[in-house]
Amino acid sequence: MLDIRSLTIDFPGPDGRRRVVDDVSLSLGPGETLGIVGESGSGKSLLSLATIGLLPRTARVSGSIRFEGRELLGLAERDLQRIRGARISMIFQEPMTALNPAMTAGAQIAEGIRLHRRASRREARAEALALMELVRIPDPARRIDSYPHEMSGGQRQRVGIAIALALRPRLIIADEPTTALDVTVQKEVLDILDELVREMGLSLVLISHDLGVIARMADRVHVMRRGRTMEEGETAAVLRNPASAYTRELLDAMPRRARRGFHIAPAAGGEVSR
Ligand SMILES: Nc1ncnc2c1ncn2[C@@H]1O[C@H](COP(=O)(O)OP(=O)(O)OP(=O)(O)O)[C@@H](O)[C@H]1O
Ligand SMILES: [Mg+2]
Repeated sequence: MLDIRSLTIDFPGPDGRRRVVDDVSLSLGPGETLGIVGESGSGKSLLSLATIGLLPRTARVSGSIRFEGRELLGLAERDLQRIRGARISMIFQEPMTALNPAMTAGAQIAEGIRLHRRASRREARAEALALMELVRIPDPARRIDSYPHEMSGGQRQRVGIAIALALRPRLIIADEPTTALDVTVQKEVLDILDELVREMGLSLVLISHDLGVIARMADRVHVMRRGRTMEEGETAAVLRNPASAYTRELLDAMPRRARRGFHIAPAAGGEVSR
């Protein structure tokens, strides 16, 4: 599905180049959820932007990003546009900035459906409504005509998920999708995302600085720091027995209650800290 090899990203700076992603390799199979965790500035967002071809122009990239057998690095913008949204879509941290404040929720969900699938206005609206039900937005028949500022943070992020699902992609990259939400809403949104991704058999790259979120959601985890891979592996195994001192630090920094059970985590396939 996704296979990233030796990805390196530099930015030219006043004192030469600054390497912000350094020789990172990772792969993700169909239906799999991969968590990427690491402190601020570790290169998580740049890694995901590289995957959808949205790096800043100043970035210098090398390595390889293969998706469904096709090399994405160096692909023409037209081809990338066809993949973006339709095959790979993204969910961003702050739905208020990711959404268009001047468009209703329904219109934003329907937009991609109309463009990519040449659906009629009515068909696209009907599908937007179905998607709003799917992500459990309360009273969708009314909410479809609401503007982002008329919705709660959790509802806005559900709209973000509906937009990401609208074109039936195979891979979703979610960059800190619940960081801006309070804890209860965060759990609801993660549950919905988890459920839909599994039902639809989608692959998910979930980026978070919160190991608790990764523990709940990810089959495998990739730990990053300052652009480098610290360790990676099956989530339960990494949390039970972290190989790198940095992962141990992240674990130790977690609130006690959230951490409970990690070091004595159940066997693979069992539930971790739910
Ligand atoms: N356009 C840019 N030009 C130069 N440096 C950049 C640019 N964008 C990001 N960086 C640098 O690259 C590094 C990695 O940034 P990135 O946004 O990927 O981190 P992150 O892991 O997503 O952090 P956070 O958890 O805060 O979102 C940072 O040190 C950042 O300052
Ligand atoms: Mg980031």
